[in-house]
Amino acid sequence: MPESITITDNRNGETIEIPIVDGGVSAAEWAKLLPGIWFYDPAFMTTAVTESSITWIDGDAGKLEYRGYPIEQLAERSTYLEVAYLLLRGDLPNRQQLDEWTHEITYHTFIHENVRKRFLEGFHYDAHPMGILVSAVAALSTFYPEAKDIFDPATRYKQIIRLIAKMPTLAAAAHRFSAGMPFVYPDNSLNFPANFLSMMWKTAEPRFDANPALARAVDVLFILHADHEQNCSTTAMRVVGSSHADPYSACAAAAAALYGPRHGGANEAVIRMLGSIGSVENVPDFVKAVKEGHGRLQGFGHRVYKNYDPRAKIIRQVAYDVFDSTGKNPLLDIALKLEEAALGDEYFVSRKLYPNVDFYSGLIYQAMGFPMEMFPVLFAIPRTAGWLAHWVELLDQDQKIARPRQLYIGSARRDYVPLEER
Ligand code: ACO
Repeated sequence: MPESITITDNRNGETIEIPIVDGGVSAAEWAKLLPGIWFYDPAFMTTAVTESSITWIDGDAGKLEYRGYPIEQLAERSTYLEVAYLLLRGDLPNRQQLDEWTHEITYHTFIHENVRKRFLEGFHYDAHPMGILVSAVAALSTFYPEAKDIFDPATRYKQIIRLIAKMPTLAAAAHRFSAGMPFVYPDNSLNFPANFLSMMWKTAEPRFDANPALARAVDVLFILHADHEQNCSTTAMRVVGSSHADPYSACAAAAAALYGPRHGGANEAVIRMLGSIGSVENVPDFVKAVKEGHGRLQGFGHRVYKNYDPRAKIIRQVAYDVFDSTGKNPLLDIALKLEEAALGDEYFVSRKLYPNVDFYSGLIYQAMGFPMEMFPVLFAIPRTAGWLAHWVELLDQDQKIARPRQLYIGSARRDYVPLEER
């Protein structure tokens, strides 16, 4: 059987056969038969915007791979920095490459004093840390004007290092500022997650040594959030990157997309939902209300996964490891009961609604002491590696500027009416 489709224009009987390649059909071929007729596809539900070799998802089977490596193996055996290298470079680093990469990142964690003193301190005292982060990332472009030179390999590499290295510093600074705490400088003797926790929590002690179990949990969560192919924020990164903006401006746009409750804010919604349910006994009534159309089960369902999100499985285990150190989050029992109820209910089963990555991540972050406003910030730190990997891929593909079409349904041509005659 041929791997192709045939389209017939019923207005004139003309047909065209288009091959199916890598699971897609070329819209450029379609345009040869039907110039000026557009695919109508709001929210890109059925559109592949690029070829990509970074991340592979099988939503029906619940599988996720970065550059061919299963997420379960990376979560168990790798580190976030190694995964960032893998996403950006395509292969796991050897010892020397990893040492150099780690050294580079570690020695670019400081932010310009003016970013902290003049810029961050200019925010209102109760500014949301994600709002601060989005603005601070955009502001970095003014500190590194050479970043505009996106086709010079050394300059491009330098900005990648800076962005991955400075994200935790900016994130922690945003938190410290909104909590009224003094800024903590990076400690280059600590590894990536331990340094982040030091910048978050250090108070009067000369050196903050994070609980190794918690630092590892943060690292695993960073691995799980590092990339997820063409999600909303990565699409924002690609769209802005396609205009050849500098990477700080493109990353700020991606972070802004992540700020939205439908994307980076779902784990906060889960915590609020669990809090509003209040106790295990109320779970059946809550599930009934959701089935009757009163709200959604937050942390359930996914555009791509129609099976258990593989990241949720790993996170569930991480939650237990964290609770061994922090004590159990009291909302855990409600979450477990809710999951059990939903997985055994026809409504959720028939719609293929399973826990997604956000169902348990908020519980972990909350148990570790992160305020809810920091949840999307904690997502943005590792996703920076994914955004940059897609940005590099886009530039190497030499893609055209992103510019979709529309189906105009507005008013036909009409003449201007003077104000007094309207
Ligand atoms: N609770 C109850 N019902 C749901 C849920 C849910 N969480 N999610 C989907 N449904 C139902 C819908 O009502 C719909 O039912 P119907 O066919 O009877 O009308 C059906 O399942 C299909 O839902 P859609 O909205 O079409 O699915 P879509 O792919 O557009 O939405 C989304 C995916 C946004 C993630 C959705 O499942 C949702 O809102 N989930 C809760 C929020 C959430 O957890 N977001 C995090 C996503 S992961 C991430 O961004 C990192």
